[in-house]
Amino acid sequence: MILILLGPPGSGKGTQAKRLGVEEKWPHLSTGDMLRSAITQGTQLGLKAKTFMDQGLLVPDEVVIGLISERVQQVDCKNGFILDGFPRTIPQAVALGVMLNALSLHLDRVFSFEIKESELINRLCGRRTCPKCGAMYHVESVPPLQDMICDQCGTGLVQRADDQIDVVQRRLKVYQQETAPLVDFYRKEGRLICLDAAQSANAVALELKKALTA
Ligand code: AP5
Repeated sequence: MILILLGPPGSGKGTQAKRLGVEEKWPHLSTGDMLRSAITQGTQLGLKAKTFMDQGLLVPDEVVIGLISERVQQVDCKNGFILDGFPRTIPQAVALGVMLNALSLHLDRVFSFEIKESELINRLCGRRTCPKCGAMYHVESVPPLQDMICDQCGTGLVQRADDQIDVVQRRLKVYQQETAPLVDFYRKEGRLICLDAAQSANAVALELKKALTA
C-alpha cells in the first residue's frame, strides 16, 4: 500500500504516519525528518536545507525529489510506504507519479488532514520533541511525565526552531500557497479521502484505518 498523508503543518501527519507505520510495518518516509537528520549530520544537503527550513520556506523541489527518489528504491519500500510531508508542490507530485511509474508501483490513497488554522498554531507552538528517539509531546495535550524530559529515553526535550510563532505563521502561509493546490490535484485523480484532523489522535487513527479497509 502506498499512501500520502497531506495536510498543513501540525495537522497530525507525523503522529498518524508513525503509528500506522509501526502497526502495518510500512516504512514511514518523512522528508522533514530526512532533512533534519541531514542537518544534524552536518552534510552539504543539510546545510543548504537549513537556510530554508529556519525561515519556514520550502526546500527546493530538486533536493526533496532526489531524497525521496533514492529512498523509494530501497528494498524495504517494495511492499509499500507512507509519505509524510511529500509531495508539497505540484512539481513534486508530478515527479512522484513518474518515479512510481518507473518502479511499476502505484499510489493507493491520499489522505487530506482537515483542520482550522487556530488549532494548528496551538499544536505547533506547544510541540516538544525528543532529539534522540523522536518521541513527540505537547505541553498541554501530551505532556511528558517529568517536565521537558522524554518518557521513553530520558533525554531533554527541545522545541523545533521552526515551531516559533513567527516561523509557524510563515509555514502556514506557504502551505496555502504551495501545498493546498495538491488537494484538488489528487481529488481530480480520484484518490483523495478527507479526514477530520481536529479529533483526538485515537479518533483520527480509527478513521484512517476504516478508510483503508473500505
Ligand atoms: P515537516 O517536518 O514535514 O513539517 P510539517 O509538514 O510542517 O509538519 P509537522 O511535522 O510540523 O506537523 P505534522 O502534521 O506532522 O503534525 P504532528 O503529528 O507532528 O517539514 C519541516 C520543513 O522541512 C518544512 O517547513 C520545509 O522547510 C521542509 N520540507 C519538508 N518536506 C518538504 C518538501 N516535500 N518540500 C520542500 N520542503 C520540505 O503533530 C503536531 C503536534 O500536534 C504535536 O505536538 C502532536 O503531539 C500534536 N497532535 C497531533 N495529532 C493531534 C491530535 N489529533 N489532537 C491533538 N494534538 C495532536
